Amino acid sequence: MFITFEGIEGSGKTTQVRQLQSFLEKRGYRCRLTREPGGTAVGEKIRRILLDPANRGISPQAELLLYIADRVQHVTEVIRPALAEGRVVICDRFADASVVYQGVARGLDAELVDTLHRLVLGEFVPDITILLDLPAETGLRRAWERIGAGPAEAAESRFEEEALDFHRRVRQGYLDLARREPDRFVVVDAGRDPSRVTADIIAAVAPRLEARRSPAHCADYREGHRTEPLK
Ligand code: TMP
Repeated sequence: MFITFEGIEGSGKTTQVRQLQSFLEKRGYRCRLTREPGGTAVGEKIRRILLDPANRGISPQAELLLYIADRVQHVTEVIRPALAEGRVVICDRFADASVVYQGVARGLDAELVDTLHRLVLGEFVPDITILLDLPAETGLRRAWERIGAGPAEAAESRFEEEALDFHRRVRQGYLDLARREPDRFVVVDAGRDPSRVTADIIAAVAPRLEARRSPAHCADYREGHRTEPLK
């Protein structure tokens, strides 16, 4: 199963992907945690270019193509092989981020982004997408607190430097996508205590995973033990 997390800056994705991974691994699922941009050696180099605040001059089209290049490499080298091994792949951002950040917020055509995705990925889409939703003001405040905490974060601040209005468009773009694809998206209120956010994510993911539980997903199943149902 392929699970993606999306949301604006400061929505808490990094914390929540780890919480979900830890929950699933305790229940015997073999997980592969990954992220975009990044997730491969080539992708981490592309990530540095994309997020470096010194690269303010990248054109919106070049930016989009770099994200797509990163994605093709990531799907080929990491995501498809992990799914083929029966792992649950949990990815911090995926194609929806390009539709929303480049297609909607940067003002490139969202249709163009969809077309490019179809060209390079075919019909490959996540099984579940968790959208961590919160007001842009709150997310940006949290993101700037994190950036203030160290040089590594400051080196990746190109998007945080965008105006509040840009992040409002991103939020709205995600909510519109979620309305269009209610079967794939789960919208979670990320403005609350992180433990409550985790509980909602688990409540959404666990039954769907349990319904598709396969021997390859689950380490202790493979070893011949019974696995407790997800709680
Ligand atoms: P993050 O790792 O903190 O989520 O940062 C990644 C940044 O890249 C974030 O600002 C969103 C942006 N992004 C896009 O603009 N388009 C994309 O396709 C992806 C994956 C990320």
